[in-house]
Amino acid sequence: MCGIVGYVGPRDATPIILSGLKRLEYRGYDSAGLAVLENGHIELRRDAGKLERLATLVEQSPLHGHVGIGHTRWATHGEPSARNAHPHLGGTGEVVLVHNGIVENFLELREELNAEGVEFRSDTDTEVIVQLVDRYLSMEMGLVEASRRALSHIKGAHGVVILSSREPDKIVAARIGNAGGVVVGVGEGEMFVASDMPAILEHTRKMVFLESQQMAVVRRTGVEVQSLAGEQLDYEIHNVAWDPVSAEKGEYRHFMEKEIHEQVRSLTDTIAGRVDFDEGRIRLPQLNLTPELAQRIRKIFITACGTAGHAGMVGKVLIESITRIPVEVDIASEFRYRDPIVDEDMLVLAISQSGETADTLAAMDLARRKGALLWSIVNVIGSQAMRISDGYISMQTGPEIGVASTKAYTAPLVDLYMLAVLLGDMRGTLEAAERRRLVADLRLVPDLVGRCLDREAEVEVVAASMKEVSHCLYLGRGINMPTAYEGALKLKEISYIHAEGYPAGEMKHGPIALIDQDMPVVVIAPRDPWYEKMFSQIEQAKARGGKVIALASEGDQLIAGVSDQVLWVPETPWRLSPVTTVIPLQMLAYHIAALRGLDVDQPRNLAKSVTVE
Ligand code: F6R
Repeated sequence: MCGIVGYVGPRDATPIILSGLKRLEYRGYDSAGLAVLENGHIELRRDAGKLERLATLVEQSPLHGHVGIGHTRWATHGEPSARNAHPHLGGTGEVVLVHNGIVENFLELREELNAEGVEFRSDTDTEVIVQLVDRYLSMEMGLVEASRRALSHIKGAHGVVILSSREPDKIVAARIGNAGGVVVGVGEGEMFVASDMPAILEHTRKMVFLESQQMAVVRRTGVEVQSLAGEQLDYEIHNVAWDPVSAEKGEYRHFMEKEIHEQVRSLTDTIAGRVDFDEGRIRLPQLNLTPELAQRIRKIFITACGTAGHAGMVGKVLIESITRIPVEVDIASEFRYRDPIVDEDMLVLAISQSGETADTLAAMDLARRKGALLWSIVNVIGSQAMRISDGYISMQTGPEIGVASTKAYTAPLVDLYMLAVLLGDMRGTLEAAERRRLVADLRLVPDLVGRCLDREAEVEVVAASMKEVSHCLYLGRGINMPTAYEGALKLKEISYIHAEGYPAGEMKHGPIALIDQDMPVVVIAPRDPWYEKMFSQIEQAKARGGKVIALASEGDQLIAGVSDQVLWVPETPWRLSPVTTVIPLQMLAYHIAALRGLDVDQPRNLAKSVTVE
């Protein structure tokens, strides 16, 4: 989705904006542009294509100034082209704007403005906003008031950043609804604006997050936050612990490769401070959970999208087996439209790396309206999902830049495990000895993950043998059924190989017809309670001439004897096994995509945070 960066301060805005946009490349985009106030007028460079193209334009025709805004666009209305790239200029050339979101009533507004004689220069919905600001500036309003009036006309969810040559000392930023975040970075005598923190982390870790229906007036000396109705608001400056270096690739070829390898650290941090190994207890204070509340919960809905949804499916098995509370897992885009049966005695738990996924936020809004207790597991500190929850767990992974989620999949698996133990403890469904054992097992996680990573060279051999395939089936069962879904999703999204994840027991009800020598089958068969069932699955696939790549526990010679290739994982307590089984599958997808020479970190058509419906 689109990325935004803005700067106001004593330094040259152009390199700051270009490097900020570079750090947002992972979000996915098809055009880029920037606008700077130069000697009292707005200078614009923009084009379709990658940031290198924009950098060339800037090199050929430099622009310098102390205030500027930039944008990477992910086309919705109008093809990727120079005229449709942001920033967009108003008719008088005195105001310029960048935007995330979709103006739902843009056709109507365009007609209205056409009738006033406005000539549109792009095919975008965004341009109506800047033309509206222009309309109000021409009525002698100040930039803040003109922006406020313009924004009052538009429907939908938006992040907007505006600057004007009439008032060169400021940038106006606004957030309406859930079209991604707007964050203001507070520097020393300089200020930054961005859609996402990694864009400005190298300059400051002091952040102000805008809520929906809020505007920020950003000057080099500070920020004022107002409601869209014009009332001055108090705000909090958050000190973000993220390290700017964690948003760099370092020695790795791709962010995804780096993030796969970061999982020993991210899982160590996930556990650190939350587990009392002496007492055998879990501490998750940000959930605001009391024993009374724990007793009250009759049912849990887990809602999420994509990879986060797969983590939720593992969570169902964990929570049901440990607490005996029924859990339903619902894809957020379904939950939000199917009028689910939710009441005050139910808990809705959203999982979202970005905390800004439009469908997940809409599902959370619905849960709130129905009176449910609302929790979230999120990675991005200060994100909307975190802010609107009654309680949350923050993933301790640091920024995840690769579009394909890896470390932000394993962290919530461990979070859900800890949550289940905590709930079981507070509800009294967990015997002390069992609780102590479950808690003690957490200590094993970082080392087990490290041992999976140590086997990367073996995974590369399997990847080389699979790089030309066109289709692939992933089978899993029980707590590792979601691992099959996740393994298949990783492969399809970055290697463009058609891959299907399937509950193994369902194979005989249809997919078995697909199996032949051209359809490799990845069978997830660690020593867990479903092991024997999975073993017979391998035999069935082999009997039909299929090529079986088994994922098995170290030393399992029985599996090795019946499979064509094996991906080994260390023996892991079964409830934690999805944390280890997914690691070879992440590496497999990564190496296949890398061998195919694909853009691993920014796969085609995908965006890191999906802020549109
Ligand atoms: C796949 C992937 C997506 C996200 C999904 C939800 O690798 O990353 O499926 O998991 O778009 O995103 P978040 O977690 O930000 O809500």
